[in-house]
Amino acid sequence: MAFNFMTAEEAAEMIQNGDTIGLSGFTAPGTPKFITEALAKKATREHEAGREFKINLFSGASTSDHVDGVMARANAYNMRAPYQNVPDLRKRINAHDCHYFDRHLSEMAQEVRYGTYGDIDWAILEVADIDENGNCILGCGLGNGPTYASMAKKIFIELNDKLPKKLLGMHDVYIPLDPPYRREIPIYKANDRIGSPILKIDPKKVVGVVRTSSYDCVKPFTAPDEVSKQIGANVVRFLVGEYKSGRLPKEFLPLQSGVGNVANAVLYDLGESKELPPFMMYTEVIQDAVLELLQKERCTFASTCSMTFTDETEKKLFSDISFFHDKILMRPAEISNNPEVVRRIGVIAMNTALEADLFGSVNSTHVLGTRMMNGIGGSGDFTRNAYLSIFSCPSVSKGGLISNIVPMVAHPDHSEHSVDILITDQGIADLRHKDPVERAQCIIDNCAHPMYRELLRDYLKLGTQGQTPHTLRAAFAFHNAFNDTGDMRNADYALYVK
Ligand code: COA
Repeated sequence: MAFNFMTAEEAAEMIQNGDTIGLSGFTAPGTPKFITEALAKKATREHEAGREFKINLFSGASTSDHVDGVMARANAYNMRAPYQNVPDLRKRINAHDCHYFDRHLSEMAQEVRYGTYGDIDWAILEVADIDENGNCILGCGLGNGPTYASMAKKIFIELNDKLPKKLLGMHDVYIPLDPPYRREIPIYKANDRIGSPILKIDPKKVVGVVRTSSYDCVKPFTAPDEVSKQIGANVVRFLVGEYKSGRLPKEFLPLQSGVGNVANAVLYDLGESKELPPFMMYTEVIQDAVLELLQKERCTFASTCSMTFTDETEKKLFSDISFFHDKILMRPAEISNNPEVVRRIGVIAMNTALEADLFGSVNSTHVLGTRMMNGIGGSGDFTRNAYLSIFSCPSVSKGGLISNIVPMVAHPDHSEHSVDILITDQGIADLRHKDPVERAQCIIDNCAHPMYRELLRDYLKLGTQGQTPHTLRAAFAFHNAFNDTGDMRNADYALYVK
């Protein structure tokens, strides 16, 4: 079947106010970049003409400025799910200009198949290649692309000539049956393949193919600062201690790691550690550090949803793709983040918190309890089901005006029941086998910044009742002090407790 080649602008013209779009990809890689740029321009023109123009957009995770940046600036979203990390969109969400549904990434595809999100009008897929029968070689990230393609009424393809066809074989496309017919996801080791190297779509649904040419535009890393280095060193120290004590098997366990500078730096440090054996990853994104560790054979295999490499590293991968071909496997988000698999293979999950409280609950999403930062992403998929769940964050933010250890988190994403280890630049709090008061003391002594320790101890002294001695009237004294005075060190429990 011959496809209809068209420009991104022609494709955007077909998308109507109120339509729902599902995009392939996970972070910038694998995510289409051109039709959404044209769509944002169309939205601006429509708004200038006095007409309503907003669409619903579903992705695998965050996208890039070519999607969320341009669309947010054009105020062109009615609804967005399941995750984002672009400042302009964050502003729209917090100003109630865009409905945002922050969802565990592993759950989105199944819910779309059940119809929770209504009809999918368009799937837009980025591919390295497509043949006339609809066999696609996908790009550097899958996300929920396979499900959006199967559920969408119509499909646009962005055929990106920067993507080598040799990506064939690096994808493992698998859509599980939905309950009550689901069988086990047959992954028993991080490197098990269970699906197809290609995504088969219905060629009759393909309304247009847009030729594009672009690397994935992932921003370069900044050099880790002293605090990040200290956090990284503490994570390594903790894992080496666990390994030496025999609480981790001699083969080690697969790692999951979040995104960002700190996560990248931690992996470099783990790779450098002579005391840990080579390891596999079962994770949702791999960043630059992992490619280097694969080269050095410190990491032996990476199962991921996306290769979130900077352009420089992406070029390195493409120029030596045969070497990496059998060392990286990209899976759909519902498989890369699958709770059943995470639990079965014993993943060590390492994620980042905005704030943690004295009893071990973690806020990953809401600044000061109200303002959406990014979203829960895959942190819940992994944290709740991991063999070991580690959260890290700096002990303070904004030069000490904010303590990231607070009496009670102002928005709970991960409860104390799922958080095993808390790590800051100050040290390591092992929360396992500790009652609430022991946990609080351990966190104050090891993770809180010294300038906040007395204030936190004073909070504990207020509580006289119950196993978890919260004093509800004073539980947000830190947050209130920041909102009222700009400095959490001004927290005054006497304002709330006579
Ligand atoms: N209260 C208020 N602001 C805070 C804060 C707190 N407790 N902690 C951090 N901040 C501010 C920082 O000062 C910084 O502000 P700036 O951008 O103005 O400098 C900003 O929040 C980001 O802080 P930083 O320490 O650089 O965070 P990060 O980039 O490491 O991201 C999360 C931390 C929690 C936002 C991020 O990891 C996330 O979105 N997690 C949820 C998704 C996830 O875990 N996915 C996992 C698999 S990838």
